[in-house]
Amino acid sequence: MIFSRRTILFGVASAATGLISDKSGYAALLPNEPWWQSATGYQIYPASFFDSNGDGIGDIAGIITKLDYLKDLGIGFIWLSPVYASPMADNGYDISDYQAINPTFGTLKVMDKLIAEAKTRGIGIVMDLVVNHTSDQHPWFKAARASRTSPYRDYYLWRDQPPAKGAPEDLASTFGGPAWTRDEVAGAYYFHEFAARQPDLNWANPAMRRDIYKMMNWWLDRGIAGFRMDSIDLIGKDIAKGIVADGPNVHPYLQEMTAATQGGRDCITVGEVWSATPDNAVLYSDPARHELAMIFQFDHVTRFWDSKLGKWKSQPVDLPTLKGIFAKWQAALATKGWTALFWGNHDLPRAVSRYGDPGQYRVESAKMLATVLHLMKGTPYVFQGEEIGMTNAGFTDIKQYRDVETLNFYQIQIAGGESEADFMAGARANSRDNARTPMQWTSGRNAGFSRGRPWIGVNPNKATVNVAADRADPNGVFQRYKLLIGLRKLLPIIRRGGFRLVAAQHPSVFAYERTFGDDRLLVIANFTGKPTSLALTPNEVMTGQDILNGGTRSLGGVLNLQPYETIAVLRAYAPTPVAAPPPLR
Ligand code: NOJ
Repeated sequence: MIFSRRTILFGVASAATGLISDKSGYAALLPNEPWWQSATGYQIYPASFFDSNGDGIGDIAGIITKLDYLKDLGIGFIWLSPVYASPMADNGYDISDYQAINPTFGTLKVMDKLIAEAKTRGIGIVMDLVVNHTSDQHPWFKAARASRTSPYRDYYLWRDQPPAKGAPEDLASTFGGPAWTRDEVAGAYYFHEFAARQPDLNWANPAMRRDIYKMMNWWLDRGIAGFRMDSIDLIGKDIAKGIVADGPNVHPYLQEMTAATQGGRDCITVGEVWSATPDNAVLYSDPARHELAMIFQFDHVTRFWDSKLGKWKSQPVDLPTLKGIFAKWQAALATKGWTALFWGNHDLPRAVSRYGDPGQYRVESAKMLATVLHLMKGTPYVFQGEEIGMTNAGFTDIKQYRDVETLNFYQIQIAGGESEADFMAGARANSRDNARTPMQWTSGRNAGFSRGRPWIGVNPNKATVNVAADRADPNGVFQRYKLLIGLRKLLPIIRRGGFRLVAAQHPSVFAYERTFGDDRLLVIANFTGKPTSLALTPNEVMTGQDILNGGTRSLGGVLNLQPYETIAVLRAYAPTPVAAPPPLR
């Protein structure tokens, strides 16, 4: 009997039937395995999650009321997009006080309550650490601009240039226009990679770095589980040489940061690294180097952007290329380092709209995308609403947009001669606001998000796409996510196994094999809305447990696949080693 020794495993995870009865959440943690390698993250964009006080903007108290929902989903930690004091020029990614909470979101007291309430449910809170830049309203910047002799002057990056010459043109801002803006009070230009209201910090200044580490420790001492580090590959910049991303000092700074903040703490640190390559990803995330636990890399996003207009003119996703990208990254971090797995976040379009089908096969394609991603090696991140298959905003009028980047590029591109219709098509595909419409809890008023007027429009498809409807459906998207999140905790092959693409050049099937000792997991997905077939080679043929639906399944010869049909079959021999979970920080 092939499966008899696996009764421990399948006694608790028999697919499609209630599945995950593991209470600890870490039943199959291997000895010495960091907790964040078996956990799944969930990103909350606070303004759009749940509004408890009716002002139309989500808040921390609202998140607390939804913790049981997240516990049911099975996540291990929340990446909380910024809730700090901020003038909100970039929705909180412009911080004016790192140790205060934006009153719109709550108070420090309610933040402490969130940390404690989450912890009692086995969920860690991962704060967004935005330290490449501050708000122009941060006291450091106010002091810096006010006086050339202030110790804070050197906390930022300045250039003296006569105003008559106009802004230096050597570097451009990610949000459009030059990366230098003149500050009249300072009498100089300051550097900002993002909006003009987000001046970049000067990481070459040791006092500034010490202040940042002090602030990080203050948060860690409050009991958070770690940090998601915003634009962290930019902190080692050398702008005199025109180097912004992945600059010469980024690794020494990160090592210094780890030593100054994390000693003995079992933190999760995840860096946002748009400049990631397979080589530097190992440098960032090899545990022996003490920099970051893992990184977000964006190859699968940027590969399908236009060479001139970038995200504003997105290209169709080519499946063999996409598969090649994932295979490349699975290989790059196979033995050293670790990666985050994600389709979407608050800066990207909705996964189902970008890679799946937001129409007829919305549910099927959302489940397919979840399965293909979550059965790879890495730590998966679910962006709020993805677990019910939320889709892009579908805005048709520029007045509906709120995002500073979208609004800046609208001005720039229309002034540059692009037609309104072309820009709007690009924005409908890729504007960051696609991910920022309110979470759809119910089919009711404002999707159950707020009793007030939401700060950004609610997607009209809330009538059918909402938590209440999807979660109650045993074949819905939520139940698939819940299953996959549970399977990761239970099956070391998902967390540790080798990875190999199957039928790498197949134009419509995403298939791969995972191996761990003698165990083997085969994942096969039709990535399209048309029926297709896949011929397995004699080596690939197998019989095993159907981990998505329960029961035994034989895969052999030619497989016919329905639109977005997804199969995952496990042949397991070795019993799973079981270790006690570490206490959650
Ligand atoms: C990356 C964040 O994810 C994005 O939302 C923000 O605008 C920039 N960094 C600047 O902080």
